[in-house]
Amino acid sequence: MIGRLNHIAIAVPDLDAATATYRDTLGAGVSQPLDQPEHGVTVVFVDLPNTKIELLHPLGAESPIANFLERNPAGGIHHVCYEVDDIVAARDRLKAGGARVLGDGTPRIGAHGKPVLFLHPKDFLGTLVELEQA
Ligand code: CO
Repeated sequence: MIGRLNHIAIAVPDLDAATATYRDTLGAGVSQPLDQPEHGVTVVFVDLPNTKIELLHPLGAESPIANFLERNPAGGIHHVCYEVDDIVAARDRLKAGGARVLGDGTPRIGAHGKPVLFLHPKDFLGTLVELEQA
């Protein structure tokens, strides 16, 4: 059912330092920081030949990654995102199998302008999983 790895998101306490690590130490191409107020994050996209890394930094008081950074002050992998062809069909299949979909289960428009859902980390090996309709 799942297809390509769309991105790995890493929550970081210092976006400039994290960007420098990927740009200078690892030699990757990085974007300018992009504020996404509707998602409560500022994002730097790291382009790799076969996928993307997204460096996430909290934006605003209600940021969904603030608690994660409190628990992981040095930063850490926040979620992985897999592509699916049909997000509603994927959701229904997962729910029928007992997996928990976060929120009310209605796909939202994600950071790339495409419908996304998040799956409960306790059902997926301790990893928050994002599904994106490709
Ligand atoms: Co994501």
